[in-house]
Amino acid sequence: MDDAAVYRLTSDLAVVQTVDFITPIVDDPYRFGRIAAANALSDIYAMGAKPLFALNLVGFPVKTLPMGVLGEILKGAAHKAAEAGIQILGGHSIEDFEPKFGLSVTGVVHPARVVRNSTARPGDRLILTKPLGLGVLTTAGDRAGPEALERAVATMETLNSAASGVMTEVGVTACTDVTGFGLLGHLYEMVTASGVGAVVTAISVPILPEAEKLASEGVAPAGSHNNLAYLEDRVAWGRAATKTRKILLSDAQTSGGLLIAVPAAKSRKLLKRLHEAGVTEAVEIGGIVTDESAMIRVV
Ligand code: CO
Ligand code: CO
Repeated sequence: MDDAAVYRLTSDLAVVQTVDFITPIVDDPYRFGRIAAANALSDIYAMGAKPLFALNLVGFPVKTLPMGVLGEILKGAAHKAAEAGIQILGGHSIEDFEPKFGLSVTGVVHPARVVRNSTARPGDRLILTKPLGLGVLTTAGDRAGPEALERAVATMETLNSAASGVMTEVGVTACTDVTGFGLLGHLYEMVTASGVGAVVTAISVPILPEAEKLASEGVAPAGSHNNLAYLEDRVAWGRAATKTRKILLSDAQTSGGLLIAVPAAKSRKLLKRLHEAGVTEAVEIGGIVTDESAMIRVV
């Protein structure tokens, strides 16, 4: 159930291939390019792989938007790729009614070190590396206020590379990145694929500033409502799961953090190393339990 394809070439080398593209979620084209690139690279990092190079995927309304806008998107992506230590070597563009942009990324990993989302084990602790609320805040736009919006954009621009590097160094059981299905949607993929259950402590899950307030006022993208509708009967909601918390835990993220399952004995070490590596918002949010019905309990 992983988002990336893994193809073994030799006994010690596998290719990891991903593709991801999105519609603009911020007004600034340069920053949209940066976010889209970080978002596309994320599936490589979630597998514990290293990116090698990428190709652009572009849909652009050439008749209604100046080409300079596209130039800014591509520049943002190129800068983000450079930060990831790779280059964008080409790509393909078509005319479209609204801008779309993303990357196909090629990476490599040792076949024995692939980090899957289907291998979580009872007793593992769950670590989340970025706060939630990105869908709510980008939907709110200016209503979120400049500071909260800036914080959300900066969070989406942040590569999951440092988190991935620490994860592979420490050694973990399973990982996925948190994107369109939200925290609980991606956790649900992990527990069903792994044949386990999970407990999430609602109060321990970090939420970006203003997102809680906006969500309580009913601000959330359609995707988050769809996620919650899907999860409603698949999650056992405790008393801490208020209506607002439910939507935030299901909030559709773009370029969200990594959700890592790590053996309990390594959990503190992983968190310490993450914080030292600059992944300062990483926290423990719950754990994996034995449960063949793959239930998530939010307490
Ligand atoms: Co993806
Ligand atoms: Co993914």
